[in-house]
Amino acid sequence: MDLSQAKHAFITGGASGIGLGIADALARRGLSVTIADIDKETLAEIVGTRGNQFRGIHLDTRDRERWAEAKQEAESVFGPVDVLCNNAGIAPNGRTFAEMSFESFDMLLAINLVGIVNGVMTFAADMQARGSGHIVNTSSQAGITASMPGVGAYCVAKYGVTALSECLRAEMAEHGVGVSVLCPSLVHTNLAENTAKIGAELREGLPVMKSDVTPDHVGEFVAQGIENNEPFILTHAGIWPALQPRFDALRAACEKRDGDSTMQELI
Ligand SMILES: NC(=O)c1ccc[n+]([C@@H]2O[C@H](COP(=O)([O-])OP(=O)(O)OC[C@H]3O[C@@H](n4cnc5c(N)ncnc54)[C@H](O)[C@@H]3O)[C@@H](O)[C@H]2O)c1
Repeated sequence: MDLSQAKHAFITGGASGIGLGIADALARRGLSVTIADIDKETLAEIVGTRGNQFRGIHLDTRDRERWAEAKQEAESVFGPVDVLCNNAGIAPNGRTFAEMSFESFDMLLAINLVGIVNGVMTFAADMQARGSGHIVNTSSQAGITASMPGVGAYCVAKYGVTALSECLRAEMAEHGVGVSVLCPSLVHTNLAENTAKIGAELREGLPVMKSDVTPDHVGEFVAQGIENNEPFILTHAGIWPALQPRFDALRAACEKRDGDSTMQELI
């Protein structure tokens, strides 16, 4: 999408970290930005320091009724949303499946996956009808490779976000709407503190996140990714060795089957 033609971006989880980095990058390109976040106080602070180009909307992305109101409220001020960034999320709970509670699993899925589905389903039909727009969904490196103990529920949600985004991209392409999935590796943010703040489980002793990639870098990667309609937006060049074993294993599994099972068609 040509961002010089875009006017309005709606960003969930935009009061902090990666979402705020995206908000600032899009504002630098001239877009008006609606930041939607569950954290009312931080939202007010952030919007208060940034002026009229920004507006804050209090939204818990799990609340479907509130999504419809938020869309109406945002568009009544800045016009139709051209860029939707479904970014709000919480950290892994640090539990293995053997020790995890249903409540903790459900909360991770509700925010990190269903919250994103809610955003897509609130805005996709309008973008499709207008024949323009771009949607960026925040997944994770944990949405393209899964192997570490203690991040299982997070990976289930983030793989879901990746799958949602790839399917949505195929569905929206013919309607002129772009879709990208953002898969950050470690980025220094307040993810752990904010996860604890909203009462989600977070096991103590999880590793502290350190990285030389900042939310501002990610904001620029996302803006470029929208401009080029990139399917995947990654943040760290060095992660291929973490991805490759999965693709090698899939290839090896394919190669085990013999020649007469190479053909399949839908009838
Ligand atoms: N920081 C990383 O290393 C990293 C790596 C991979 C993926 N991610 C993903 O990036 C996204 C942004 O995280 P971040 O690292 O910038 O963390 P962050 O905590 O700095 O920002 C997340 C924001 O989302 C908001 N939020 C949480 N739940 C919400 C809800 N239900 N409704 C509305 N807002 C809600 C929080 O209040 C916060 O402002 C998340 O989806 C996270 O899973 C982060």
